[in-house]
Amino acid sequence: MKLITVIGARPQFIKSAPFSDVFRKKHKEIVIHTGQHYDKNMSDIFFKELRIPEPDYHLGVGSGNHGFQTGRMLEKIEDIILKEKPDGLLVYGDTNSTLAGALAASKLHIPVFHVEAGLRSYHKRMPEEQNRVLTDHISDLLLCPTKTAVENLKKEGITKGVILTGDIMYDTVNRFIKLSNSRYSKDAWLESLKAENEVIPSDLQEKEYYLATIHRAENTDDLKKLQIIFSAFEKLDKPVLIPLHPRTRKLIDKLNIKFKNVTIINPVGYLLMLYLTANAYMIVTDSGGLQKEAYFLKTPCTTLRDQTEWVETLEYGWNMLSRIEVQTITKTATRKLDCLKHSQAPLFGDGKAAEYICQAILKRA
Ligand code: UD1
Ligand code: UDP
Repeated sequence: MKLITVIGARPQFIKSAPFSDVFRKKHKEIVIHTGQHYDKNMSDIFFKELRIPEPDYHLGVGSGNHGFQTGRMLEKIEDIILKEKPDGLLVYGDTNSTLAGALAASKLHIPVFHVEAGLRSYHKRMPEEQNRVLTDHISDLLLCPTKTAVENLKKEGITKGVILTGDIMYDTVNRFIKLSNSRYSKDAWLESLKAENEVIPSDLQEKEYYLATIHRAENTDDLKKLQIIFSAFEKLDKPVLIPLHPRTRKLIDKLNIKFKNVTIINPVGYLLMLYLTANAYMIVTDSGGLQKEAYFLKTPCTTLRDQTEWVETLEYGWNMLSRIEVQTITKTATRKLDCLKHSQAPLFGDGKAAEYICQAILKRA
């Protein structure tokens, strides 16, 4: 079978690693990198660390408004589909790269396979919600990470082609956690942070720091919200380490805050990120993927949003949502961590999502 896979943003590289590995053992996969993310530490580093095959096509689309970015991708992906004549096209998640890939294939009557189908925040203004709803409605296979996702699709009348596979990010974590530990345990994580960044506090200790990430449009488009988030971080009872997304980095300088408790660093590779996540006191984030990784690695999480698509992580308070208010953020992040007394149910599958996705695609082809 000949499959085209479209990826373009950091979490998609991470999700693609286990599937590409399984699928390529017997079948042909052609990878298109849209170029949505292009900085070295937002793209190349993941291909190297996770041994993801080099893309067959690099579209170099780069940043821009939604219409511009999605439109350029659509045009270029269409040309490649016409040339390669694949049996199907695979997309991950809910970025503009996802929608462009799905739309290009659907219009040419090429079956669309959507990994991470069925997620909903029911927040219509969110660009990711628009991308995922549209993608789901033109997909032929809807590969769902959770039972909730299957139910969400049912509510929209989508039952054909829906398959519960478990979460592909769980596969990636399981594959790489040992390597992450062997590379970064003892003081190697600190040495590595110091080598790449100018100001790392010397007293940073495992389980004694918050690890935070912020990049979601709803939190970054409004500078007042960013100001509130960073003011709350300054008030937390432990140092806050933030590998900052370039989108937010560009805005933060405008805030002119003198940080004492917050250390901003460049985005890190996946292996170091896993280590930092597993050894943090708590994750504070608006990322989708990181909420799950926190849960997989049994690190409590505070999510700086009004909704989450990953409702399973809220069980026993492993993850808690916080409105963007200084007091609410600090209160939620310093809550009593009763969740640590509870074991977790296997709500994200058995870590073999890549195999189930592969089987489903081959059966459909
Ligand atoms: C995108 C996805 C989001 C996902 C996130 C993962 C959409 C609509 N959003 O958001 O769902 O959670 O990726 O990280 O697809 N930039 C750089 N260098 C890069 C990439 C981006 O400087 O390598 C800067 C640019 O100024 C760009 C901004 O970040 O304008 C936003 O990038 P973009 O890809 O549009 O959206 P993300 O916020 O990354
Ligand atoms: N991540 C990483 N380095 C960083 C920040 C995040 O490797 O500096 C990883 C993180 O562990 C997770 C993924 O990137 O696997 C999440 O991507 P992001 O938060 O950008 O997107 P989202 O999941 O919100 O779509």
